[in-house]
Parts: sequence; C-alpha cells; structure tokens
Amino acid sequence: MEIFKTIKSLQERISFLKKEGKTIGFVPTMGALHEGHISLINRSVEENSFTVSSLFINPTQFNNSEDLEKYPRTFDEDSEKLQSAKCDILFFPSSQEMYPENEKAQQFDFGKIATVMEGRFRPGHFNGVAQIVSKLFRIVKPTRAYFGQKDFQQLAIVKKLNTNYLKELKIEIVACKIIREKDGLAMSSRNLRLNKDERQNASLISKTLFTTKELKNKMDVKNLKKWVLEKINKNKYLELEYFDIVDNQNLDSISNWDEKNNKTACIAAYCGEVRLIDNIAIT
Ligand code: PAJ
Repeated sequence: MEIFKTIKSLQERISFLKKEGKTIGFVPTMGALHEGHISLINRSVEENSFTVSSLFINPTQFNNSEDLEKYPRTFDEDSEKLQSAKCDILFFPSSQEMYPENEKAQQFDFGKIATVMEGRFRPGHFNGVAQIVSKLFRIVKPTRAYFGQKDFQQLAIVKKLNTNYLKELKIEIVACKIIREKDGLAMSSRNLRLNKDERQNASLISKTLFTTKELKNKMDVKNLKKWVLEKINKNKYLELEYFDIVDNQNLDSISNWDEKNNKTACIAAYCGEVRLIDNIAIT
C-alpha cells in the first residue's frame, strides 16, 4: 500500500491512474478502524480498479474539544488493517495540509436536514463534515465514494453535498450496511473508550432499536418514543439524548405509521461519557 501525506503527491499519483483509465473507489475515515470501516474497503476493492482511503481526524466536525482529544489514534494498526484488506493508497495528511492558515472556511446550506437530530445536538458538526468531505472529493475525484449507513444523517448530508455543490465531479455515493458486534452494538471507533461494564450495557441501545420494529404494530409513534426513553434511561449506564422516527427523504419526524415514505428510527445516547449513535430501517 502506498502512503501519501501531501495533496500534491496524491494528486500526481491519481491523475496518472486516471489517465490509464482506472476507476477509483474512495473510503474516507477518521481511523481507529474496525470491521465496519473494512466492509467499506472490501466493497470498494470489489467494485473499482483502485481503492484510496483517507485517515484524518477532522477537527472542524468536533463540537466538543474533549471528544477530539480523546478520539483514538492508532495509525500503525490502521495501516496494517488497510493493507490486509488490499487498499491500494492511504492518504494521511496533516491538519495544516487540509486547513492551511488564512483559508476562509466554507459555509454550506443543507436546509432542515442539517438542523435536526445530530445537527441539533452537535451544532456545526455537519458543516465540518461537509468541509472535509468536499476537500477530499476535490482532491481524490473518485468514481465512487463509500459511506456507512451507521451515520444515517451524515449519508443524507453527503448525498446533498454531492448533488448541490459537487455535481461536476460526477461521484457515485455508495451506501453500505451497518456492521455490528455479536451482541448487536453497532461498531464504532468510540466503543474503544467504553469500560467493561459500559460495554456490556451499551448493547441495550441496539436491542431497544430492534424491539421498536416489533412494537410498531402494537403502539402509536408517541407511545413508542416514550417507551424507548424509559427503557434506555432505566439503565444506570445510559442516558438518552434523542430518539426519533424520521422520513428517509426529508428527515422530518413522523407522527403516524401510515405516512407513506420509508422511515428510519434514529437514536443517540450517552454510555458513561461516550456518545453513541445507531439507527434501524422501519418500513
Ligand atoms: P468514521 O467515523 O471513521 O467513519 C468512516 C466511515 O465508516 C463512515 O462512512 C461511517 O459511516 C462508516 N462506518 C463507521 N462505523 C460503521 C459500521 N459499524 N458499519 C458500517 N459502516 C460504518 O464518518 C466519519 O469517519 C467522518 O465523519 C468522515 C466521513 C471520515 C469525515 O471526516
């Protein structure tokens, strides 16, 4: 696997590959890689002649400085995992490379989909995600870019970024399914920060989500939301931040099961100090 730290060296390599007619799959990450990330790499390797991954802990998407400081940094293990998964190129830039001093920060407007759920509780988060993803897309100019459904709202934002701001790059966004631990907990780099007791109790988040699918036929939306709040907060390790059931297209909260579009139940909860998110499709 080739490793590039500067935009210029990466771009030279990529333009050479493109001239040769290669298709490029791109998997952006913030490292601390697990099987969820590797499933995206596997899919890209299957579907493209070259796979590029990036590892950059993007400061502009953290609205909490402690979360940024505590984000796991495991470069050696990460590059080994990428190499074993047959990733061809790793882009590992410095902050200075991605955010040069004196550069004006770009502001994006995604409308309501950026202000609900994660947008409401993490102000500025999606603008930071859009800043880094648009920079990376313009540098790599991939044929396809791979994102996990684990970050359901991020995926909606990236799709809108791609069509509203970066249309000329003609990138196909590929959505990949959530990879879970044996007990159901969605894999996340933040799981590394849970202690043993927290880790055991964290799986109540996904278990509760799975049950919401069954309870759909027995409860109205309002009562189901109340049930989830009680179920999570009764556990002494967990504290619910939000639970919502939204329309997949516009992320509006639904109030009735008969609303016609596909729906997703989304949850964010603290397990000790660690904030975890998950979601499940409710059709
Ligand atoms: P990160 O959290 O490292 O995730 C990188 C990619 O892996 C994202 O597309 C995410 O949805 C996907 N992913 C994470 N856990 C997953 C799981 N359990 N199953 C399937 N896919 C999973 O998301 C980011 O980084 C950043 O916001 C980024 C897009 C890189 C911009 O900085």
